[in-house]
Amino acid sequence: MRYLIWLPLWLGILGQAAAGGPETVPLPPPHTEGGMPLMQALKARHSSREFAARPLPRQVLSDLLWAANGVNRPDTGKRTAPTAKDMREILVYVITAEGVHLYEPSVHALRRVADGDLRHLAGTQDFVAQAPLNLVYVADLGRMDTSEENQRLYSATDTGFIAQNVYLFCASAGLATVVRGSVDRAPLAAALGLGPQQQIILAQTVGYPKQAK
Ligand SMILES: Cc1cc2nc3c(=O)[nH]c(=O)nc-3n(C[C@H](O)[C@H](O)[C@H](O)COP(=O)(O)O)c2cc1C
Repeated sequence: MRYLIWLPLWLGILGQAAAGGPETVPLPPPHTEGGMPLMQALKARHSSREFAARPLPRQVLSDLLWAANGVNRPDTGKRTAPTAKDMREILVYVITAEGVHLYEPSVHALRRVADGDLRHLAGTQDFVAQAPLNLVYVADLGRMDTSEENQRLYSATDTGFIAQNVYLFCASAGLATVVRGSVDRAPLAAALGLGPQQQIILAQTVGYPKQAK
């Protein structure tokens, strides 16, 4: 009987362990139905560099990350974006005013990496520090069992697929976005705690469009 009193606590701890540990925050399940018809989303896709400061609701962040690189076939763990040899080497870091998290597709959760507002490190253009969300695409070369030439080629192409998923999701959800190569990589890599085998490929800013004055 005494043990039953602790059941909710144990269930909570086991739940956290299943999600990757106490530093991992689950996202709400993604809404994988609906959205804009694909041809309309392709028509609407474009880059924007003006963002409202308004944060993204948690459900929108969940849907966005699932669209970017979530698991769409749970039986194999395969993703919404393809990767060469199914290496799944691209890590998606999430930078908001609250801190830095790593998206964990297998449990659809965010793992805490750093606290505080580090958005100014996510790019060299002024809008980056004001927009509510910056994604940073990092290639984990340690997961790439292929030649150095292929590592460079595949990590760039695999990032492109994820970035385009984000573009199409944003078009469908009425969000503004731009993918960016203009990143000061050394300070950002230090803020993300990257190892020598982990390379920043691109970043992508996301937010609601700035209303015309
Ligand atoms: C690999 C890559 C790097 C880019 N880097 C930047 C960047 O650093 N800053 C920026 O404002 N836009 C950047 N862009 C966005 C392009 O400028 C944009 O896609 C292009 O002007 C075409 O506009 P569209 O996306 O509206 O079709 C980049 C796009 C790609 C594909």
